[in-house]
Amino acid sequence: MSDFVKISRDGDVAIVTIDNPPVNALSFQVREPLMQALTSMRDEPSVAAIVIACAGRTFVAGADITEFGKPMQQPELRAILATLETIAKPTVAAIHGTALGGGLELTLGCHFRVADPGAKLGLPEVKLGLLPGGGGTVRLPRLVGALKALKMIVSGTPIGAVEAHEAGLVDAVFEGDLTTHAVNFAREIARKGGPFTPVRDRDDRLGETDLAALDAEAADLARKARGLEAPIACAQSVRNAITLPFDEALAAERALFVKLVASDQSRAQRHLFFAEREAAKIPGKDIVKRRIARVGVIGAGAMGGGIAMAFANGGYPVTLLETSHEALQRGLATIDKNYAVSVARGSLTEDARRQRFAQFKGSTDYADLTDCDLIVEAVFEDMAVKKEVFGKLGAVAKPGAILATNTSYLDINEIAASTSRPQDVLGLHFFSPANVMKLLEIVRADKTAPDALATVVDMARRIGKVAVVVGVCHGFVGNRMLAARGSESEALLLEGATPSQIDKAFTDFGWPMGPFQMGDLAGLDIGWRNRKARGLTAVIADTLCEQGRFGQKTGRGFYLYEAGARTPVPDPEVEVLIRDKAAEKGIAPRAISAEEIIERTLYPLINEGAKILEQGIAARASDIDVVWVNGYGFPIGKGGPMFWAGFEGAARIIERLDHWHQRTGKDVFEPAPLLKRMAETGSWGAGG
Ligand code: 3HC
Repeated sequence: MSDFVKISRDGDVAIVTIDNPPVNALSFQVREPLMQALTSMRDEPSVAAIVIACAGRTFVAGADITEFGKPMQQPELRAILATLETIAKPTVAAIHGTALGGGLELTLGCHFRVADPGAKLGLPEVKLGLLPGGGGTVRLPRLVGALKALKMIVSGTPIGAVEAHEAGLVDAVFEGDLTTHAVNFAREIARKGGPFTPVRDRDDRLGETDLAALDAEAADLARKARGLEAPIACAQSVRNAITLPFDEALAAERALFVKLVASDQSRAQRHLFFAEREAAKIPGKDIVKRRIARVGVIGAGAMGGGIAMAFANGGYPVTLLETSHEALQRGLATIDKNYAVSVARGSLTEDARRQRFAQFKGSTDYADLTDCDLIVEAVFEDMAVKKEVFGKLGAVAKPGAILATNTSYLDINEIAASTSRPQDVLGLHFFSPANVMKLLEIVRADKTAPDALATVVDMARRIGKVAVVVGVCHGFVGNRMLAARGSESEALLLEGATPSQIDKAFTDFGWPMGPFQMGDLAGLDIGWRNRKARGLTAVIADTLCEQGRFGQKTGRGFYLYEAGARTPVPDPEVEVLIRDKAAEKGIAPRAISAEEIIERTLYPLINEGAKILEQGIAARASDIDVVWVNGYGFPIGKGGPMFWAGFEGAARIIERLDHWHQRTGKDVFEPAPLLKRMAETGSWGAGG
């Protein structure tokens, strides 16, 4: 017996209970006593059957991720599974909460699996840049068929107990006390008598595999992997499960796992796993939070509507406020339509759609916001307009209500000063579409009360957002760094690169799209308006806008778009325009490499990140990575800009920045002191 694994008896059934809070990860401290418990119960004549269960809120949620990259202490999970498969008595896994990764693999070593109706089962290793390394790719296809296994393993998305039952992964689903049901199930099976076939020997479902269909599916998944190695390894390993004998397939899976666990991509993805959890931690998180029972959203346009949906999806009743009845009806109709699309796609049931829509109460009267505990304004991005809204809110909102602005750039301290209660004011910077995008920048203003901040951090989790707390500055973390990334885009064009060459360098790096495709998608007029407001110019983009080329919405921008199509087609006219503007400035075109494109755009971005850290706008380098991966599509296999900087080497980044700083004199190239410290110490400091 150990603190982590306990054995109890219910008559002739032994119950082996794993107890390793919070998620029962299979750390060494669990594996060793688990192995002992299984061996002793196997050899104990008075035991007729064995149930493996877990204490606490979940079944085993996987291997202990913190152990990866270190020498693995014996026994490994594989050895435990091999032992399980030597047991002739029936073995039953009792699954509640989440059986993930090594946790699900542990259940696949058992003869039977029973589950609570709310349980979720999956192999999410791919999200850590890995493949299941405990036989998951070889055993799961034997239960659910190769195609279903492929989809589960490559997506990493868990399935519910009912679906798992239908698929053949789970043998029974029980309401009520799961351990009692599992014991009864095990006793009944033992009474009927064996032999009990281990999953490894259950080959009947493998025969039904259409290898051509599997290969077609795998090829499609590989295309979507955008340079990530793990999804391809997962697909290869599932194929091995069908084409190779069990032990050979298992050995091949192991070899791939060992390779991936040491890869930069997996290191990067593991960094992000912990970074996301770390970002949600703020000092004083134990302070008493305010209660949020109802949320008000001001503005029912695209942003306000999306924000309102995000709250309704998280279970909050929402009061949606607009200036006119027509605008309100338009906003509510769009929300209704969006939910209808989800129903048509099968991601929402008709019932859930009705429930969510019933959460909305529309209004055109500020007085209706008096019962809201959190009010988010999503009105036009203009300081005077925002101040007017906050002035009204100060008067109508109940004492203690949190007042949030969804500004992307404006000074929240100035907004807070326009109310009599700056302690209640903060920023909630959602990303568009707000009901879909994971990232939420929570902006702490100078006078924001700690309990208001802690309340919205909790709320963000409830509505499924990845939250990062940031400080006030122009553009906060994400948009401020985006500006630094874009500072050289036009210069690269003028010096000889084309929009499609730059965009290709970006997509080859792993971004979902390049800056010019992105500009065309978002609308070039937005940046144009911003530049004009700030007295800035961008010679190419401004000229395109003057010609009415606003991007996809006008069929022409940096690229051409066929009617109704979203595929960018390079436009020779734009290339002529670029060359003409370059000639006017006396710039002779030269060949520009993809490497230069990446360095000249990403090194300033990292440099800006270092300045943001120095100024305390972000608390940790890893917070910045979370922002960039979840809000801007930074490739997950590179771990975010600050993590990737470690691969590039700060010394090299400084050397290139110095070079361009001397050439251009631009501030974005002036190396941050923290970058220099990083070059000396190899770390960004806290959270690096
Ligand atoms: N190893 C180590 N720590 C883990 C862990 C794991 N597998 N899973 C979760 N944790 C830690 C988290 O870091 C967090 O620690 P903290 O409190 O110090 O920040 C704590 O457990 C709680 O985690 P969450 O905040 O994520 O709790 P939730 O309740 O929101 O979510 C969960 C629970 C769904 C289980 C989620 O934690 C999760 O998805 N975990 C990872 C699951 C996973 O990827 N499993 C596969 C691991 S790889 C593997 O098994 C390889 C095998 O094939 C050999």
